[in-house]
Amino acid sequence: MTDALLQVRDLTVEFPTDDGVVRAVRGVSFDLRRGEVLGIVGESGCGKSVTNLAIMGLLPKTARVGGSVRIGDDEVIGRFPGEMREIRGKRIAMIFQDPMTSLNPVYTVGWQLVETIRAHREMKKAEARAKAVDLLRLVGIPNPDDRFDSYPHEFSGGMRQRVVIAMAIANDPEVLIADEPTTALDVTVQAQILDTLQRIRSETGTAIVFITHDLGVLAGMADRLLVMYAGRVVESGRIEEVFDDPQMPYTIGLLGAIPGEDSHGRRLNQIKGAPPSLMRIPEGCLFAPRCPLAVDACGSSEPGAVEPEIDHGVACHRVNDVKAMADRRSIFLNERAI
Ligand SMILES: Nc1ncnc2c1ncn2[C@@H]1O[C@H](COP(=O)(O)OP(=O)(O)OP(=O)(O)O)[C@@H](O)[C@H]1O
Ligand SMILES: [Mg+2]
Repeated sequence: MTDALLQVRDLTVEFPTDDGVVRAVRGVSFDLRRGEVLGIVGESGCGKSVTNLAIMGLLPKTARVGGSVRIGDDEVIGRFPGEMREIRGKRIAMIFQDPMTSLNPVYTVGWQLVETIRAHREMKKAEARAKAVDLLRLVGIPNPDDRFDSYPHEFSGGMRQRVVIAMAIANDPEVLIADEPTTALDVTVQAQILDTLQRIRSETGTAIVFITHDLGVLAGMADRLLVMYAGRVVESGRIEEVFDDPQMPYTIGLLGAIPGEDSHGRRLNQIKGAPPSLMRIPEGCLFAPRCPLAVDACGSSEPGAVEPEIDHGVACHRVNDVKAMADRRSIFLNERAI
């Protein structure tokens, strides 16, 4: 039994290509509860977007998807595209990095909002218009009545992203997935968009999955955190707990890249090297080649997956040694910290 709105279990995604099979997602499990903000973080290519496209049923036809994704009591994996269209927008919606992928340049934003509202329920035009104006107000568009008739190019990047958020929440989804919605925006505008998402969560109770490469963005925003590496979850837990007590060397490295009070402007540490190819996957922990704490065991077997039900989970052979270390944050400074 779980009170999760969204329950993902052992999700796998493979892409057959001419050069071989890309194993983009390799057994991801997590829960998202009502009104919760879950941050998903990890370097480029670790499977954040593919995980969420699988949840949305938006992967290309060639993708092989396994495992289970439940939205409420409904299983999503294996649905026909028509059934997914019904679920998308109404129960679960997604915001992408580039607002123009979600907006049509030749229609006014008001028209697009009204169409989105009327795609899922019967509503008179005037009523849908009133709701569209309310949505524009909720996401912080000034003078929403006047802006209803503007075209997407008449908005700034930040305002356009707000319109996209309004479209995404138009049918009161239970779950909103935001895939790097602020990366293309400058820092001040990013903060405003994050505020907008927070307000939506508190006013509508929508649960949010927020994807980013930037752990700093999640501080003060997310309730829980999922750290991904090479298609897997390597650490998950309540955000304060992961920030205070990171247990996977990869997470420690990501945290070290956030300029903190004690860093005096220095970059405290940096994870050397790059993530592995997901095409020919070697044995062992895939972070081992970059990990200052790796020992022989790390090269021979991959740690077990993080259990979604436990409060703070980690996939690392050396977790007990990490927990015993006095100064974890220095492990990337001293390559011989073992
Ligand atoms: N259609 C596809 N065919 C083949 N490989 C794909 C396809 N889509 C994604 N991949 C691969 O799957 C892996 C995971 O990609 P994904 O887009 O989920 O990464 P990400 O974590 O979202 O990265 P970023 O932070 O850059 O957005 C990558 O190795 C990517 O090249
Ligand atoms: Mg992505």
